[in-house]
Amino acid sequence: MTSITTSAPGKCILFGEHAVVYGHPAVAVAIDQRISVRIQPSPSGIWLLDGSELNMQRNPHIAALINKLWPKESGAPPLSIHIEGNIPRAAGLGSSAALSVAFAGALRLARGRLMREAGSNDRVHWAEGFGSTISLTSAYDNKTGIFPDQTLAELFHLTGPESVDEDENAILAHSVEAIAQKGRASPMDSSTCSHGGIIVISDQQEHKLDYLYHRELTTPSGTVRWHIHQLASIAQPDDVYLVIGNTGVNAPTAKQVAKVAKMLQDNPTKIEEIETIGKIARRGIEALKRADYAAVGRTMSENQLMLKSIGVSSPELDVLIRAATPSSLGVKLTGAGGGGCMVALTKNPRATSDAIELAGGRTLISKLGSPGMSIDSLPNSTFWQKS
Ligand code: PMV
Repeated sequence: MTSITTSAPGKCILFGEHAVVYGHPAVAVAIDQRISVRIQPSPSGIWLLDGSELNMQRNPHIAALINKLWPKESGAPPLSIHIEGNIPRAAGLGSSAALSVAFAGALRLARGRLMREAGSNDRVHWAEGFGSTISLTSAYDNKTGIFPDQTLAELFHLTGPESVDEDENAILAHSVEAIAQKGRASPMDSSTCSHGGIIVISDQQEHKLDYLYHRELTTPSGTVRWHIHQLASIAQPDDVYLVIGNTGVNAPTAKQVAKVAKMLQDNPTKIEEIETIGKIARRGIEALKRADYAAVGRTMSENQLMLKSIGVSSPELDVLIRAATPSSLGVKLTGAGGGGCMVALTKNPRATSDAIELAGGRTLISKLGSPGMSIDSLPNSTFWQKS
């Protein structure tokens, strides 16, 4: 039977976690570990996930994307979904964003996109879909942008790889993450997993970086705006690797973010540490631009000192960080901390990985800045077109 397969990478934060919540820049890189999604028409007339009936409550990201891109009320038929991959779940490595990006891309390929001729110059425009110029708030509206006002006869149906758009996958993934996380989600994971490479997120437009777009989200504590950039021009180093060490300790992001907020409330002078993390992140960005990986590593280790001083490291993370230090250019926790993962920048990935494993961590090895979402198999026809 015909099927569509897409995949998207996980992510790891190099600089700036926690300080990004207070508007400072942060840097995330796409890693080699990926999630792959295969879809095909359901053989049994109901939605299937890995061969069993899909439970929409237990799979909120999938359910929200179906609601947006594959609405039953418009006649979309049930599909069979198969998910596989090597990104550990709930470890701060972006597994849910990677799943959302890959699934959004697969659904877009499965329906194609309606296009509108825009008069002169042979220009065409999307007649349906979420564009990067549409703020996230409107992406929340299930019906906005899905189907155009024009009659279908005035439009044409674009199919194949050109119907997929990285910005659209990123905005859809961000919006479903925000729904699943009750309105609090930064676009760091969704943009990194969709575009790949190295992503810089900030509260302002940063000089000398490739600007992608801004995102705006109305959260329970007000409207937040982020500017998202890509560090596209750097040369991929062929002798520098990331080794990610998983402590196996579960530490929910929301709890860690609340812990930092309370610390700042009890001790407002600690904001200096947050500001220092912001300055360190800016230095890290400059070092990345120069492809000076010795400086990138040193800056990561400095970032770790500050993360420790705001109380988000943990004994388990400290053990793995200490084990990785002798063979690395730099080491820090990655993500929310308290558990989860650490990351080492190293020219000796085997030695660093062995040292972390010996200290009790589980490791993954990755290059810096893997490709974003990819289309891995595509049949000749779509699975559904609104008629
Ligand atoms: O644990 P992760 O990978 O979801 O990263 C959290 C990063 C924080 O800065 C702690 C929170 C955030 O929303 O940016």
